[in-house]
Amino acid sequence: MQEFILEGDVMRSIMKVVHQVAKYDVNVLITGESGTGKELLAKIIHLQSPRSENPFVPVNCGILSGMMFEDKLFGHEKGAFTGAIRREKGCFEIADQGTLFLDEIAEIPLENQTDFLRVLEDSRFVRIGGSQLIEGDVRIISATNKDLKDKVKQGLFRGDLFYRLHVVPLYIPALRERKAVIPKMVDRFLNQLAANYNKPRPSVKPEVVDIFCRYDWPGNVRELKNLLERIFILDDDDVIALEHLPSDFLWHFRAPSRTMNLEEVRKGAETKAILDVLYRVAGDKEQAAKILRISPRTLRHKLNRYNIKVDRRGEPVTKNLLDHPEESLSFKASPR
Ligand SMILES: Nc1ncnc2c1ncn2[C@@H]1O[C@H](COP(=O)(O)OP(=O)(O)OP(=O)(O)O)[C@@H](O)[C@H]1O
Ligand SMILES: [Mg+2]
Repeated sequence: MQEFILEGDVMRSIMKVVHQVAKYDVNVLITGESGTGKELLAKIIHLQSPRSENPFVPVNCGILSGMMFEDKLFGHEKGAFTGAIRREKGCFEIADQGTLFLDEIAEIPLENQTDFLRVLEDSRFVRIGGSQLIEGDVRIISATNKDLKDKVKQGLFRGDLFYRLHVVPLYIPALRERKAVIPKMVDRFLNQLAANYNKPRPSVKPEVVDIFCRYDWPGNVRELKNLLERIFILDDDDVIALEHLPSDFLWHFRAPSRTMNLEEVRKGAETKAILDVLYRVAGDKEQAAKILRISPRTLRHKLNRYNIKVDRRGEPVTKNLLDHPEESLSFKASPR
């Protein structure tokens, strides 16, 4: 089990609620941007609950619809559909006596929400193709990075299901809203990495911590943790200094262009926005185009025109800025 870093007043007040709700089988809805630690928090609630010895079963609702959703949650009997060669339990049964963690809950298609609500209300369900009513004893924790209330307003999420799941809401703020925790987080993650990789723990130069505190971390704690892991693995020096930070990270701190050429200004601003969005959606260009409110074709055109390249995870593949001092880096400039 990974350590849950509890620095800061916000996390401490979240943990007060967690200690309280863990004891009861009340439904909890965890919200917060991607990478803020929703799944980790759900596991902590489970581990602090009387169900801790029983399974914690996460389900990603974002990738399921129609019969696939029903199958994943309620299972099927042998012969229920082509390919159902044996009886399979669904997550409700697998999580019996334990906790069912419904991730990306906002994505449950409307067509599945009615049946799902019924099961939540009377804790009984039938496997696909079966007739036996099965009693499930699960505790439900759900999570989303969407505004579920807004989805209810738009008619995309049933209000009665929302209130059923939302008995105790827990909101984890984005890392940029609690930057004071960053120095301690860096410290704790480096301790964890040193223990996991059995490698000496480097110290960190104050200017590195400073630059971390000025960055906005769109990928939140996950982004910070991954960046530290990358630096930790790639460098054996006993001090992490600015020159150890990857060029694509430093890219965010480039000196603001002094050019008055509007075409250049637009290019810089658009490149930054496109890279940020691609990072947030892990490189999914269709989704990025939607967020940027341009067509996928326009996005492709801009990627070519501005020579923007990202890897499969949406991380920028840029030339190493440190190898090109003419690209002057200014660590005084505000990142965003
Ligand atoms: N407070 C914390 N202490 C230690 N690690 C953390 C903390 N918050 C997040 N992490 C780490 O950050 C990563 C992302 O966390 P997690 O998967 O729980 O986020 P999430 O909110 O569920 O993200 P997503 O919405 O993308 O699914 C994990 O590796 C997790 O261990
Ligand atoms: Mg998650």
